[in-house]
Amino acid sequence: MSDTISELAASIRSIPDYPKPGIIFRDITTLLGNPRAFRRAVDELVQPYAGLKIDKIAGTEARGFILGGAVAHQLSAGFVPIRKKGKLPRDTVRVAYSLEYGVDEMEMHLDAVQPGEKVILVDDLIATGGTAVAATQLLRQMGAEVVSACFVIDLPDLGGRRKLEELGVDVRTLVE
Ligand code: PRP
Ligand code: ADE
Repeated sequence: MSDTISELAASIRSIPDYPKPGIIFRDITTLLGNPRAFRRAVDELVQPYAGLKIDKIAGTEARGFILGGAVAHQLSAGFVPIRKKGKLPRDTVRVAYSLEYGVDEMEMHLDAVQPGEKVILVDDLIATGGTAVAATQLLRQMGAEVVSACFVIDLPDLGGRRKLEELGVDVRTLVE
């Protein structure tokens, strides 16, 4: 593991039995609150995409907004919020999904992406992949090309990365 990746891993806090018994919650608030770790995480996420013409970054609520906004700025791309149901004011496309500790529905504005636009999905963590697969479905339904998906943390035992790759998405992660 490189020094940068070790430093990122060390800046993430693990909370047992949150939000439910048996879940070890990987808390990135400690990474975000550390100026050096936050900058390095964003730099590492962006690095594989340098020089690519990306139209938009899509981020899933809520942690995907923080990292996705920073990545969009670095890549001079737009930002598309994919939100939990009932939060977006105009017409949306909606999908139900399940994640490591629950079920929910997410939405995206119908006019958030145009057919053929190149989009990168950004989130803090991939576990079961339920969230990222659902977000990919919404983006593709609207005709966007999901060029890649990137995450600070992969929980490989939960198989999310594989699921996303099986859909043909290029997946990048920093820390296991
Ligand atoms: C977390 C995380 C990912 C998702 C990953 O979000 O930020 O979006 O779970 O889990 P999965 O791979 O099993 O789908 P959460 O829904 O807890 O929302 P939050 O960012 O609002 O806390
Ligand atoms: N989202 C899904 N599983 C998670 C975990 N173990 N820690 C933080 N966020 C998560």
